Amino acid sequence: MQRDHREQLNLSWQANADAWTAAVREQRIESRRLVTDTAILQAVLALAPARVLDVGCGEGWLCRGLAARGIESVGVDASAPLIEVARKAGNPRGNYRVCGYAELESQAAQLGRFDVLVCNFALLEEPLAPTLNALHGVLAPGGRLLIQTLHPWRACHDASYRDGWRVETFASFGEGFQAPMPWFFRTLESWLSLLSETGWRLQWLQEPLHPESEQPVSLLLLLGAER
Ligand SMILES: C[S@@+](CC[C@H](N)C(=O)[O-])C[C@H]1O[C@@H](n2cnc3c(N)ncnc32)[C@H](O)[C@@H]1O
Repeated sequence: MQRDHREQLNLSWQANADAWTAAVREQRIESRRLVTDTAILQAVLALAPARVLDVGCGEGWLCRGLAARGIESVGVDASAPLIEVARKAGNPRGNYRVCGYAELESQAAQLGRFDVLVCNFALLEEPLAPTLNALHGVLAPGGRLLIQTLHPWRACHDASYRDGWRVETFASFGEGFQAPMPWFFRTLESWLSLLSETGWRLQWLQEPLHPESEQPVSLLLLLGAER
């Protein structure tokens, strides 16, 4: 069952590549437009990195934003169509690779080491420990991992506050989405245990708020390596 969910997750990012690209580039997702894009960009910039790996980069908006500020970035993503549109949007200081997280370990030598690894709404699967372990292999000494994810208390809605697979239909993101996406919901306790078990030490945690409702939109975590 877990394997089916992971396969469907992967397929959804092939099938929805065009619709996702339009939703991001037309700024259709309010939480991104008002809160989370700025939150992740500012968090990266505050670390003043020379080199950033955008893990699950999608259509590449963050790499382009970093390049505009003179920061070298590499974007990796399992979705070939998303990598293609990212490349087409042009990023003279960065580059993109089709690379599933399961291949990060074998690609580490070619990718090199990075001062900051960013996962912006891109850690969606279970088990996640192999990916979090593999990220140590591409981290420069003293480097940091930044994770932005849905705030668990908001993303839970009325379902029970327990880890488990959920489904995103993209209904509020506009037209053109072809396939629902299974994703794995984690409680805050579960996130923090998983990160600790995989050798990541929490340095700070932010809960960016929606400016009007003042409800937390996301959970933003800065981590250093314990290994
Ligand atoms: C919600 S999108 C976020 C994209 C981008 N980080 C952004 O902020 O716009 C999630 C991305 O993670 C990628 N992804 C999810 N699981 C992956 C995996 N196991 N290996 C590589 N990419 C993955 C998807 O292909 C998709 O592009």
